[in-house]
Amino acid sequence: MGDPYRLPRHIFPTRYDLRLTPDLAAATFTGDATISVTVRRATKAIVLNAAELDVTAASIEHGAGALRRATIALDEPAERCRLTFPASIAPGQWTLRLTFNGKLNDKLRGFYRSTYKDAAGAAHVMAATQLEATDARRAFPCWDEPDFKAVFATTLIIDPALTAVSNTTVVSERLEGGKKVLRFADTIAMSTYLVAFIVGEIEATEPTMVGKAPLRLWCVPGKKHLAKFGQAIAASSLRFFERYYGLPYPGDKLDLLAIPDFASGAMENLGAITFRENALLVDEQAATHAELERIADVVAHENAHMWFGDLVTMSWWNGLWLNEAFATFAEMLAVDAWKPEWKRWETFGVSRAAAMIVDGLHSSRPIEYPVRAPKDADAMFDVLTYEKGASVLRMLEQYLGPTVFRNGIRDYLKRHAYGNADTKDLWVSLGRVAKQPVPKLMNGWIFEPGYPLVTVSLAQNGRLRLSQRRFTYLSSLAPRASRRKPVSATWQVPIQLRLTAKAKRESRRLLLTGTATQISLPKGVDAVLVNEDGHGFYRVRYDAKLLERLLRLVPDRLAPIERFNLINDAWASTVAGLLPVTDYLDMTARFQADRDKNVWAVVIDSFHSLHRIIEPACRAALDTFVRGRIGPMVAELGWTPRTGEDELRRQLRGDAIRALGTIGNDRAAQARAAELYADYQNNPAAVDPNVLPAVIAILAHAGDAARYQEFSERFRAAATPQEERRYLYALASFQPVDLLARTLEKTINGEFRTQDAPFMVRLVQASVYGRELAWEFVKTNWDVMDRRYPKQGLRRMCEGIIGLATPALERDVQKFFRERKIDLGGKTLAQYLEQLRIAVAFRQRDGKALGRYLNTGR
Ligand code: BES
Ligand code: ZN
Repeated sequence: MGDPYRLPRHIFPTRYDLRLTPDLAAATFTGDATISVTVRRATKAIVLNAAELDVTAASIEHGAGALRRATIALDEPAERCRLTFPASIAPGQWTLRLTFNGKLNDKLRGFYRSTYKDAAGAAHVMAATQLEATDARRAFPCWDEPDFKAVFATTLIIDPALTAVSNTTVVSERLEGGKKVLRFADTIAMSTYLVAFIVGEIEATEPTMVGKAPLRLWCVPGKKHLAKFGQAIAASSLRFFERYYGLPYPGDKLDLLAIPDFASGAMENLGAITFRENALLVDEQAATHAELERIADVVAHENAHMWFGDLVTMSWWNGLWLNEAFATFAEMLAVDAWKPEWKRWETFGVSRAAAMIVDGLHSSRPIEYPVRAPKDADAMFDVLTYEKGASVLRMLEQYLGPTVFRNGIRDYLKRHAYGNADTKDLWVSLGRVAKQPVPKLMNGWIFEPGYPLVTVSLAQNGRLRLSQRRFTYLSSLAPRASRRKPVSATWQVPIQLRLTAKAKRESRRLLLTGTATQISLPKGVDAVLVNEDGHGFYRVRYDAKLLERLLRLVPDRLAPIERFNLINDAWASTVAGLLPVTDYLDMTARFQADRDKNVWAVVIDSFHSLHRIIEPACRAALDTFVRGRIGPMVAELGWTPRTGEDELRRQLRGDAIRALGTIGNDRAAQARAAELYADYQNNPAAVDPNVLPAVIAILAHAGDAARYQEFSERFRAAATPQEERRYLYALASFQPVDLLARTLEKTINGEFRTQDAPFMVRLVQASVYGRELAWEFVKTNWDVMDRRYPKQGLRRMCEGIIGLATPALERDVQKFFRERKIDLGGKTLAQYLEQLRIAVAFRQRDGKALGRYLNTGR
């Protein structure tokens, strides 16, 4: 019977005429679909996808021929609908008519309901769709696979007081039987997962024209003043992509809509991109650099998809990286072109580092990975698809040269426009333009899990020796998994070196193809940097001598990304047991004078990790150590920006203050934060926007019940999505367990939106004060959460188990998932459990030495 998750291919749709009538008050909808289908082989049955829909009638006709009725069989577990006809349907063109109805659900998938309160506290309802990956079948019966592309012509029949948006412009609007009937223009041929309908009391900004397309932002009433920044990056990035791709925007208009309840960050529906509110709406004056950058990223990312994903789509979900990795890569290009002073590609190092953590697991997977069930398609939306994928694209772009790379992309888009493509099609286009064998270079990066650790040493003969092997944190997995054959891959590693001799610098490029190579060094070389400019997706391990010489160049004579990689690789080696934790802590002293926010993000993050594995008795000593590292920097930066200071320094100030007041537990910083916060109540301009969230975090960290109450109210009354999020997250950062218990309660009693609740549970699991409590809460309430949260909710929430880094908790976690037979899709759970194993192993291996070092300095 073939793959139960793929539809037969001898019948396929070319056009859907959809009519949908949502009833917001009753939370239901009715619909009918008239689908033009091509039948290639005579058949008595037609199988298509449908889930949680009641299909009430189905018939088919053929030109002037008679109408034939089908018997309908819904197979809910298979998410399919089987139509059986009394007589065989002959090859040719047919028109299939279906009527159906469904519920506007609360799980933020398919056609769903979103609710919000206006300024006066009155409740309102709207409806929106989220159809990727496999939820179009919950909105209308369809061939719900990305390569069944078709034209969509949608009609929405709504309450006259409401507004509706879909993928294309409205071609007619009329009143009929007391209802507003909106007909939308035909779309281009596209995949089902890109269809969108949004219905509610929504308002739009004035349009900005980009070529022939008007670009607007939409939101619920009262928030339009927060749309300006998003509209600016939307217009800028759309224009940027028209030039970069060499093709006009493929839609006839572009709407960007902020939806109060939204499962992910944003969704690239052609012409009607949907967002969670905090990913689109912002008060530019009151936001932090990170918050603004997030909006610019998300908007540019979704715009990039209009071509990469919407115009040309992966054939199947195993190739999701073609969509997501490319959009992530392109998002950097567009944001970098818009605000070069943000140095977006430098901060991209943080994303690359995040991918290297998961890809350093035995339970990692190749970027392209087999997908069958919908659950496995969902699990593909991870750091390997996005961040590793974007990293290897960046590496390839730098290797081929940006112009050659771009021309290859243009070739690929032109050839596959309105169609689908696979990884090999991309290689063909890039290879054609680059005149190089791209598959040989790239297949290891896409089809193998993991990445190399490049070891660099000075050989006896004075030459430089480079070798590669796979980097993993654990030398082998615990008993059961080690039966698996070890992966001993080698990669084609583009290596760029920098040799420094006194005042001279020389760059060299080579491709490391085997396990090892040697190169000769010119006389007088004193330092060797591997991975110059930092584009390579690998780690570097230097011998002691080479490392010492490099550290002498910190900070001024290495680029920020190079320093970032140096400290980040050192930390990874420490977690992997290749470098003693005491050496790492000594090394952090060498970065004292560094003022790069990304370098400090690594250092601060490593302190957080140590906090989670250190014995409680040694916590005070760790606090003291952290204050020693960060205190001088905060003293130098101060709490208010100097005039003419760059953006990245402003952000560093916020990060440093936050770390000092929270993991550093600095009493003076906590007192200062309280004073500033009091000033801020009277005068919102009293605190720099980049410092304010740090102040809030510090006050939560040191806060009591009264502060908790205050922040809860602030969360409810927040003026912007960013402010709401800061107070929300602060509610997971208090220390008293009774307060954390109140926060946990709100994750299931409806006080937090289900789009946020899983993240809140995860945050409490990551807190050393709340983790035991949070874990008990997860075990007790698993079924409630499974019922209420959006489908990716539990997967995201479970990432929190990585923080449960004590041997006792680890045993209990393993037992729970084993006994309940929980599957989070793909390799997700195995990856979380392995990360937990790494943390506990780190504790058991280095915990004692860490305590001794912090208490005695040795
Ligand atoms: N296509 C995704 C949205 C999506 C995510 C659909 C998961 C189904 C499951 C969209 O393009 C996306 O990647 N959104 C990101 C934000 C982006 C800037 C990385 C998200 O939602 O986190
Ligand atoms: Zn995306």
